[in-house]
Amino acid sequence: MILSMFMAPEKAAPAAQKAAETAQAAQAVADPTLHKQGAGAVWETVSPWAELPQASTFAEGVDLLYMFIVALSVFFFVLIMGVQGYFMWKYHRKSDDQKTSSITHNGKIEFLWSAVPAVLLVVIFVWGEVDFLKQSVSPPDAVQVRVTGRQWFWTVEYPDYPGVQLTSSVDENAVTLVVPKGKPVQLTLTSEDVIHDFYIPAFRVKRDVVPGRYTTFWFEATQVGEFNLYCAEYCGDQHSAMIGKVKVLDPEHYAAYLIEAGKLEQEEGESMAAYGQRIYGKRGCNACHSLDGSPKIGPSWKGLWNKQETTDKGSVTIDDNYIKESVLEPNAQIVVGFEGVKMPSYKGQLDDKQISAVVEFIKTLK
Ligand code: CUA
Repeated sequence: MILSMFMAPEKAAPAAQKAAETAQAAQAVADPTLHKQGAGAVWETVSPWAELPQASTFAEGVDLLYMFIVALSVFFFVLIMGVQGYFMWKYHRKSDDQKTSSITHNGKIEFLWSAVPAVLLVVIFVWGEVDFLKQSVSPPDAVQVRVTGRQWFWTVEYPDYPGVQLTSSVDENAVTLVVPKGKPVQLTLTSEDVIHDFYIPAFRVKRDVVPGRYTTFWFEATQVGEFNLYCAEYCGDQHSAMIGKVKVLDPEHYAAYLIEAGKLEQEEGESMAAYGQRIYGKRGCNACHSLDGSPKIGPSWKGLWNKQETTDKGSVTIDDNYIKESVLEPNAQIVVGFEGVKMPSYKGQLDDKQISAVVEFIKTLK
């Protein structure tokens, strides 16, 4: 039912649809498995040949230019190959003693085959440039979103909703970016380590995310639903895990969803360890630390508690102090074997209670 509602969002009766969506928004927050549904994302992944949804105001323009270039290429391919084939047949050598006639050049034809493609290339450039500028210059009233790329997850923050932080996670299939339908959204992006690339195919938008620099672009989503989000620049070992979901909601559900989804408070009756496990999934720890002892970019958390380790500053016992220091200042004491790894600092992102919860969670991983 939820699925069919997404597939034909405009056809459902407005009142019933609104009620259903509110219920679904609340439910989706409570039950992360529901995030896996959503027609946009389903359409995109149902078959490699499935047509991408045109889910932003830019989509049609980009597709049109793309089709123009494809049509132009097909036209000239057929024309050039056809003429070549025809000439091969027409002028092939007819007898053994036939000599090739001497061919001089033809100024008129040479001018044409230079000038016509040059004009067409200028048309493609101007068309592309106009569309590119359109995506670069955002309307002044756009909703502001800040995106940070790290090896290997995205963090999304909303200046209008302080404290709300959404993180991509390959394990949880979590919603990474929530935007309202029919409103311009401006993204300001930067990276903490290497070059990433923020890519939402259904919106036809893509921008490099560069360390030490801010890049921006904007879009306006036109369909309620969920769409895939990728890192489109090879950024290391787990590049392919840097994926997420963009959720487009009606403006009236947007704020409520965001406030709810951004919460990372300990719930009533929840143990510290269970709370720590949620933080592990929601704040990107799982991108680098496994729970089963298998090696990822950082040390596995299995059996970590109370372990004796040799670091670049001497030997340590992994206890509360060492874990807290490693969360806030990852480069203070690096365990031998992980010297080349640049873990981002979580200063200002996890408070003391949340770090304690993570410690309690690590204690349970024997
Ligand atoms: Cu980040 Cu690829």
